[in-house]
Amino acid sequence: MRPTPAVTPSHGSPTGYQQSLVRYASIDRPDDGGGTVRHAYIDAEALATFRKDGTFPAGTVIVMDQFAAKRDTNGQLLHDSQGRLIPDQPQTIAVRVKLAPGQTVAGDQLPAGLRNGDWVYATFDPLSRQRDSLDNPVCSACHEQAAGWDYVFSRPDLAAAIQKNTPQPSSCDLPGRQPCRVPGQ
Ligand code: HEC
Repeated sequence: MRPTPAVTPSHGSPTGYQQSLVRYASIDRPDDGGGTVRHAYIDAEALATFRKDGTFPAGTVIVMDQFAAKRDTNGQLLHDSQGRLIPDQPQTIAVRVKLAPGQTVAGDQLPAGLRNGDWVYATFDPLSRQRDSLDNPVCSACHEQAAGWDYVFSRPDLAAAIQKNTPQPSSCDLPGRQPCRVPGQ
């Protein structure tokens, strides 16, 4: 079993998650808080297991950073040559880590009944890299809808990225962080 993972966005690498993890998705959300771009990354060991059997092993680390989408001087959202939104100011870094059964993270106050399996959630300030939240019940309440995908909404993006061997672009035009895809639909 892997040791309890540190719930940080750098995961032991001084250069951070963009280098130490593998990017699998890029999600445009034109109607989320004025437009956002989100990039999702997974650790290589978890990726290897998922590739083999479609499961997330204990120790899985997934990081998703969020940027405001770039706008022109008239306030219109800008797009690149592929029609994708362009990341501008970093807004937050969200992390989910899968613990082994019985493992805990110091300071985690979430009651067992509100957990999503063995996952813990955290958010970080993208500039200071300080942790802003640990297991906010809002995270697991929404991700509960993806229980059939082990609570990972971007699971289809990960499967597609593995198949095509490149990070998967997707887009969701629902407001807030409402899911465009849920299991069973
Ligand atoms: C209202 C629903 C909602 C809430 C609340 C929410 N998320 Fe998510 N989250 C999503 C959706 C939907 C995705 C898939 C990407 C997308 O469509 O933007 C996602 C993706 C993620 C991912 C990438 C891996 C995955 O599960 O797909 C992480 C990490 C993540 N969220 C962490 C958090 C954390 C931490 C919080 C709480 C601070 C949180 N989320 C709150 C809906 C939500």
